[in-house]
Amino acid sequence: VNSSPAALDPDTRRRLDVLVAELRRAGAVRSPRWVDALAAIPRHALVPRFFAEESGPRGVTVWRPVDRRDGQRWLDAVYSDQTLVTALDDATAEQLPGGGFTGVPTSSSTLPSLMVRMLEDLDVHDGHQVLEIGTGTGYNAALLSHRLGQDHVFSIDVDPALIEAARERLAAIGYAPALAVGDGREGCAPRAPYDRIIATCAVPAIPPAWLGQSRPGGVILTDLASGIEGGLVCLTVASDGEAEGHFTAATGRFMAARDQKRGYRGRERATLAPVTGARETHVPAAEIRASYDFRLLLGFRLADAELVYHHDEDTGALALQLQWPDGCWARSPLPGQPGEGTVTWGGADDMWRQVETVWRWWVSMGRPDRTRLAVTADSRGTAVWLEAENHERIRVSPPTANAHQPHG
Ligand SMILES: C[S@@+](CC[C@H](N)C(=O)[O-])C[C@H]1O[C@@H](n2cnc3c(N)ncnc32)[C@H](O)[C@@H]1O
Repeated sequence: VNSSPAALDPDTRRRLDVLVAELRRAGAVRSPRWVDALAAIPRHALVPRFFAEESGPRGVTVWRPVDRRDGQRWLDAVYSDQTLVTALDDATAEQLPGGGFTGVPTSSSTLPSLMVRMLEDLDVHDGHQVLEIGTGTGYNAALLSHRLGQDHVFSIDVDPALIEAARERLAAIGYAPALAVGDGREGCAPRAPYDRIIATCAVPAIPPAWLGQSRPGGVILTDLASGIEGGLVCLTVASDGEAEGHFTAATGRFMAARDQKRGYRGRERATLAPVTGARETHVPAAEIRASYDFRLLLGFRLADAELVYHHDEDTGALALQLQWPDGCWARSPLPGQPGEGTVTWGGADDMWRQVETVWRWWVSMGRPDRTRLAVTADSRGTAVWLEAENHERIRVSPPTANAHQPHG
């Protein structure tokens, strides 16, 4: 079923062999068919340029283009296990004197170990039809085309320029999977049903189109994200269009799915309320920052909360801040910052109490990790559940979008 890949030059062969050996040692790739695919795809052909992150004046991130003119530096990065930013939002990107850019990344080539862990979890078989959401560089579409044959791969990206570039670059290395411009959250009905749907952008809930376009027994793998944290979920779709699964052991975060080619619109929220109180807390920011699994659970419990980092202009303190669409907020300084161990809030309620309630519950349940979080989805919505030791499921996400009610 393999398409015929272009012959690789000795330097690419050597670099690919080193990378594949590293990914095998790390346990990221296990099956021979995915080892073959990784060893066949010259990542540099799909990532002719990326943006290296630098810290600019006053902490502003500067993106410096690196391409084939940078020779070894470019190739060393491309053949290492790194995520490489490959596109910046035109609306916010500005060129600086000296050649760097500011701006928000809108596409990247995912680190190969994460990509292949996801492909392993996707559990594809010969003859499967796969829909990929988020073509980006086309690297993942190339891996899938090698494994399944290009006629079995359909990949969609919201950005027309990315699709055009990916199509050309894939053709240059001998692959022509079907590519399309569009909002991948709608899937693509005329090509359905799919055996597997894999998204390399994040969604807050499983889009109903993916459920409706999956074959019974089909698998959906995506980053499911709240405003606080997100993680990878792998769901199996039943014949009635309902899906069920878990967060996977592999963790990875992707850019949020967006509506249009141009950048991200911020979340809509009221102006932050003035300070109403401050006190000590037994769940300081350090605990939240250190506990990915807790953040994941917290995010789905406090469904409309958003986590940001707040810099206090007066004290210079950096704090972890949770904020809600109605302007309520609560923040706790990071370790080593003035006020560490305290919480300050604004709005009618002390919202940090909810964080403390969820923390006590999580600790009382034995600090369950992400793989104990189950996910169910149907056309009405997506729900997250905690699986207790006795396999009983306790609902984590609120039944409605009303997140102002802490778990009892
Ligand atoms: C992390 S990158 C993709 C990485 C890609 N799989 C690769 O191998 O290079 C995420 C991609 O999702 C795309 N994207 C964002 N929102 C989307 C949407 N609603 N529909 C389809 N693609 C979207 C972005 O344009 C971006 O290219």
